[in-house]
Amino acid sequence: MNAQRAPAPHPETGPPFWLLAELTYQCPLHCAFCYNPVDFARVEDELSTEDWLRVLRQGRELGAVQCGFSGGEPLQRRDLETLVAEAHRLGYYTNLITSGIGLNERRIADLKAAGLDHIQLSFQDSTREVNDFLSSTRTFDLKRKAAALIKQHGYEMVLNCVIHRLNIDHVEAIIEMAVAMEADYLELANTQYYAWAHVNREHLLPTREQLARAEAVTVRWRERLEGRTRLIFVVPDYYETRPKKCMNGWGNVFLTIAPDGAALPCHTARMLPGLAFPNVRDLDLRAIWYDSEGFNRFRGTDWMQEPCRSCPEKEKDLGGCRCQAWMLAQDPAAADPVCAKSPRHGELRAVVERAQAPQAGVPAQPLVFRGRRESKALGRPF
Ligand code: FES
Repeated sequence: MNAQRAPAPHPETGPPFWLLAELTYQCPLHCAFCYNPVDFARVEDELSTEDWLRVLRQGRELGAVQCGFSGGEPLQRRDLETLVAEAHRLGYYTNLITSGIGLNERRIADLKAAGLDHIQLSFQDSTREVNDFLSSTRTFDLKRKAAALIKQHGYEMVLNCVIHRLNIDHVEAIIEMAVAMEADYLELANTQYYAWAHVNREHLLPTREQLARAEAVTVRWRERLEGRTRLIFVVPDYYETRPKKCMNGWGNVFLTIAPDGAALPCHTARMLPGLAFPNVRDLDLRAIWYDSEGFNRFRGTDWMQEPCRSCPEKEKDLGGCRCQAWMLAQDPAAADPVCAKSPRHGELRAVVERAQAPQAGVPAQPLVFRGRRESKALGRPF
């Protein structure tokens, strides 16, 4: 795909800080809240090692200093160690975002030797039953082994657990598990409703009461731990009345490269209609970042319409999330409906209210686990 050229780059655009290399959509897990696009199975043509090496070099020349390797499961790529070594040589701070599946003694030793700086390991729950149910695999014990390897190899232990209706009542046990593993950080990331989590929203959105309880447990543990395991609790957007400054601003900090080389301001941006995103096979990262229509469209505040345009907080939140505006208001340039000032905010409130009703525990459609067959059957981006 050739990039459409915007007339001029946004005047305040600096270099990206983060280069996020989504190496593959292949993953041994089938998480019901996976953030990969629902239609990921359409992407078959992954970048080669040479392509990625070129991207890493161009990203560094452009000024990026952090490099995240994610997926799918990045350990599925046999060239991960080669890419980490090159990223390290170029001077990036390197970060592996992994489910831990595929991490063994040899691979972690090779990654360490290649210069990998940081590993973030995900768990689905503190119990084998729920962990394995949510990922539709038997992976709990493998994850525990991966956690032990991370510790043995002298890495900071950074755990991430996606929180939702089906595991939020286990927050205390999840914290206890993290403490027992001597985790340095535990991110209790409430599900945000994109991609597969959006498909399964009825199953996953917690009640107000569940959320309040989980937050109170986290606060109590935070005081008790006095910083030994640092707890990060991320509230779901749906319970907010002011939107987040998504991605810290469109085309501002993050440059994501999808497995097939599409360059994106966020990992779900490809769903947005009327926008063309360039591919690293066709264009270098500097032209993509500064000159492409896809990256310039929502930079700054000039693109805004009401109520964002006259809002005194527009610089603070930049109108919220463009993907959420599209998913919930069918207009990527609308105010994010999370915002109480959005004319569509009432619809979001209605979704939240439905989640409080007792019958919300019995959703009309069954939980859909991420998989190639399901991706092809759903055939839509979110
Ligand atoms: Fe795409 Fe928020 S996730 S702009």
